Amino acid sequence: MILWNSYEKQEEDTLEKEKIIVLDFGGQYNQLVARRVRECNVYCEIYSYRTDIEKIKEMNPKGIILTGGPNSCYEADSPTYSKELFELGIPVLGLCYGAQLMQHVLGGKVEKAPVREYGKTETFIDGAKDTLFAGVEDSTVVWMSHFDYISKPAPGFDIIAHTVDCPVAAAANEEKKLYAIQFHPEVLHTVRGKEILFNFVRNICQTEGSWRMDSFVENAIAEVREKVGDGKVLLALSGGVDSSVLAALLAKAIGKQLTCVFVDHGLLRKNEGDEVEGVFGKGGAFDINFVRVNAQERYYAKLKGVTEPEAKRKLIGEEFIRVFEEEAKKIGAVDFLAQGTIYPDVVESGLGGESAVIKSHHNVGGLPDYVDFKEIIEPLRNLFKDEVRKAGLELGLPEYLVYRQPFPGPGLGIRIIGEVTAEKVRIVQDADYIYREEVDKAAAEYKKEHGVEAPWMPNQYFAALTNMRSVGVMGDERTYDYAVAVRAVRTIDFMTAEAAEIPFEVLQTVMSRVINEVRGVNRVFYDLTSKPPGTIEFE
Ligand code: XMP
Repeated sequence: MILWNSYEKQEEDTLEKEKIIVLDFGGQYNQLVARRVRECNVYCEIYSYRTDIEKIKEMNPKGIILTGGPNSCYEADSPTYSKELFELGIPVLGLCYGAQLMQHVLGGKVEKAPVREYGKTETFIDGAKDTLFAGVEDSTVVWMSHFDYISKPAPGFDIIAHTVDCPVAAAANEEKKLYAIQFHPEVLHTVRGKEILFNFVRNICQTEGSWRMDSFVENAIAEVREKVGDGKVLLALSGGVDSSVLAALLAKAIGKQLTCVFVDHGLLRKNEGDEVEGVFGKGGAFDINFVRVNAQERYYAKLKGVTEPEAKRKLIGEEFIRVFEEEAKKIGAVDFLAQGTIYPDVVESGLGGESAVIKSHHNVGGLPDYVDFKEIIEPLRNLFKDEVRKAGLELGLPEYLVYRQPFPGPGLGIRIIGEVTAEKVRIVQDADYIYREEVDKAAAEYKKEHGVEAPWMPNQYFAALTNMRSVGVMGDERTYDYAVAVRAVRTIDFMTAEAAEIPFEVLQTVMSRVINEVRGVNRVFYDLTSKPPGTIEFE
């Protein structure tokens, strides 16, 4: 076995030298594959299977991973790749569809399996015990999900694993460093999945493994400096995690050459505008040009009488561009417009790999061209959310900012059902603040007591204002006030979600605090709806 640490240290830029490429064939776990590679401290990027072979050669990766996908590789119009990919002398690991495709292209046989395997499956290791399967027991549990199978490996390949129903659970041509595995090592249910990927990435691909988040930050700073030179950069800072991390990164890289425009549209969470100004404004941690535009009144005027959710979204988005454009005009021409695009945005907007789901609200691709700039820069484009957070901490941003939960661009505008008014914004801000405070407090207590995170800890939780008013009684008085809805969901990908089981006593405390402390509210509802059929937000 080749030991990674027996290799001479590479002096040059290891980020460039040590790239693994994931070719995306449309599988559902593709982001996970990339992430597992980075957990081996090797930099990794995902490209569509349509990527030209010449581009791959140019990138000179240390290894290539072919992902799973929903098709059958023997059908005429299924995603495929030319045989040349396997003749570059670069190690290739095919996973599920990628494994079948490798075998198919190189002359093996893939057909519909008599028995479809799905879920945890016992697998018997028959070979590659010093290479791909080093450290894996002879019998191990893996995650399977396939309806086709490799019935005969390609010439030059040996069977290195099988299951009861699958004669070729893995095959290898060790000489050429080509590996095909039917199961998914990237999924945690594959007990030795991490080891198998580590063996490929570090040992078989002979990488040094020196990629770290601090290397990312250092490299990104150096790259930005080189690209920007003495040019001017403009950034629309929303106060969310991505644009804040980007602002911090650019601040470190180019200081006063950066201007951040922060538009307070009056639809932010309580105190958020001041918090953003505290970090990035005068007297804050960074020496940049920071412009806060207090556009609250302007937004409320625009939103007057608008009740339809999409109309609100559109209006808030357009108004943002208009405000931003006015500020940009004052600043004058800039060389670069920076955007906090991160990897999931690229994928969700259909610009990245194949597993694309289009979401219109992601602002990838730039602002309209009435801002005078020459080029867009997106230094966070290849990072996952948790990596962006790590980079943020590395750059010295406060934890409360780095761990902020997702917050939609149109802000509280879509958490107020019906017309938005300053009064309603006040109500929802105050109720939301109390709700988050109580949930955070209960979660911290649980963690302190049990040493682990609460099983009900939501991934997103907020208050919204329904458009419903009802009769109540407070003291001796009849009230006719609004109902606040509180929502908390547990989700992995935000595509599906379930209501979190927030303890009843926490909800009761929230209810009484909101009704007592927030004027204009006399009822509190807890939203139990999953997604689907609901969405996470209310509008
Ligand atoms: P939904 O409501 O679609 O939310 O289930 C999924 C995730 O997306 C966020 N979201 C938005 N983000 N502009 C945004 O920037 C929007 O219009 C928008 N709508 C929903 C939502 O907060 C959740 O995290």
